[in-house]
Amino acid sequence: MRKGRILSGMRPTAGRLHLGNYHGALENWVRLQDEYECFFMIADWHALSTMYQDTARLRENVRELAIDYLSAGLDPEKCVIFVQSHVKEHAELHLLFSMLVPLGWLERVPTYKEQLRELEEREIATYGFLGYPVLQAADITIYKADLVPVGKDQESHIELTREIVRRFNALYGPVFPEPQALFTEARALPGIDGRKMSKSYENFIAMAAGEDEIRQRVQAMVTDPARIRKSDPGHPEVCTVYAFHRVYSPEGLLEIEEACRGGRVGCVECKRSLAARLAAALAPIRARRAEWEASPRLVDEVLAAGAERARAVARATMEEVRAAIGI
Ligand code: TRP
Ligand code: SF4
Repeated sequence: MRKGRILSGMRPTAGRLHLGNYHGALENWVRLQDEYECFFMIADWHALSTMYQDTARLRENVRELAIDYLSAGLDPEKCVIFVQSHVKEHAELHLLFSMLVPLGWLERVPTYKEQLRELEEREIATYGFLGYPVLQAADITIYKADLVPVGKDQESHIELTREIVRRFNALYGPVFPEPQALFTEARALPGIDGRKMSKSYENFIAMAAGEDEIRQRVQAMVTDPARIRKSDPGHPEVCTVYAFHRVYSPEGLLEIEEACRGGRVGCVECKRSLAARLAAALAPIRARRAEWEASPRLVDEVLAAGAERARAVARATMEEVRAAIGI
C-alpha cells in the first residue's frame, strides 16, 4: 500500500519566517515527512496574485523560504521541496480547471472579498486573484494529495478543491481523489506585544534569530501589567512571557507559575530564563541555516532535484487528465 500523500506550501511574500510560521506549520511538516510521502512547495505564482506590482525581491524571497524550510528540518532525502513555477504543469491544470469552475464558487470564497477590501491599494481586483484558489486546487490535485496540512484560514480553499474534484470526476471520470485538510493546531504563541504574531505588526521573533536578537525581543515582551514590584502577585495567564514558557519550558512550568503567583520571581529573571530556553531551542535551526547559507549551490541543487521529482508526478497526472478530457 502506498503511503498517504501530502502537499502543502507557503507563499514567498514576507522574507524570513518567524516562530508563528514555525509552530503554525513547519514544525508539523517536519513530523509529517517521516510518515507520509510529502511535497512541500514554494508558491511563487501565488505570491504574484497579490504582489504582481512588486517583484523586485521575489527571487530572493523564494530562496529565503527554501532555506527556512531546510533550516526548520525538512530533509530533501525524505520529502520533495520545490518551487511552484518550476513545474509548469500546475499552470496547465489551472487552465483546464478554470473552464469548469463556476464564477459563483470563487466569488463566495470568504478570503476573496475580505482581501479585496484589506489590500485595496494593491489593485488586486484581477482575474488571477479571483482564480487563485483554482490554482491552489491544481497544486494539490496534480499530486493526487490525500492530505493538505494547512491553517484554518485555508479551510474554504480546500473545500473548493474538493468541489472542483467532484465536478471534474463527474464530467470526465474518476481521476482525482478528494483531498482532506489536516488542520494544524497552532500552538498558542502570541507576538511579543500579546497580539497575534505577524510580520506586519513587527512583534515577531524570527525562526533563525540569534541570541542577542532573542534577548532583545524577550526583554520587550509585555508581562502582567499588575506587577510592579517583584513581591506583587502575578497572573501568568495574561503574560506573554508565560505563553512562551508554556511552549519552551514545559517541565518547569508549574514552578514558574507558582513563583509568579506567589511574588517570588521577578519578570526580569523570568525573561532571562525564557531567553536562555529559546536560544537553546532555536540553536539547531540557526546552525542549519548557517550551513545552507554557506552553500548556495546546494540549495539550488535541492530545488532542482525537487522540481524533477515533482514534475515526474505532475506529468503523469496530466497525461491522465488529457486522456480523460479527450484533448
Ligand atoms: N494559499 C496558501 C497560503 O496562502 C499557500 C498555498 C498555495 C497552498 N498552494 C497551496 C497551501 C496548496 C496548501 C496547498 O497560505
Ligand atoms: Fe510573566 Fe514571568 Fe513576570 Fe509572571 S514573573 S508576570 S510569568 S514575566
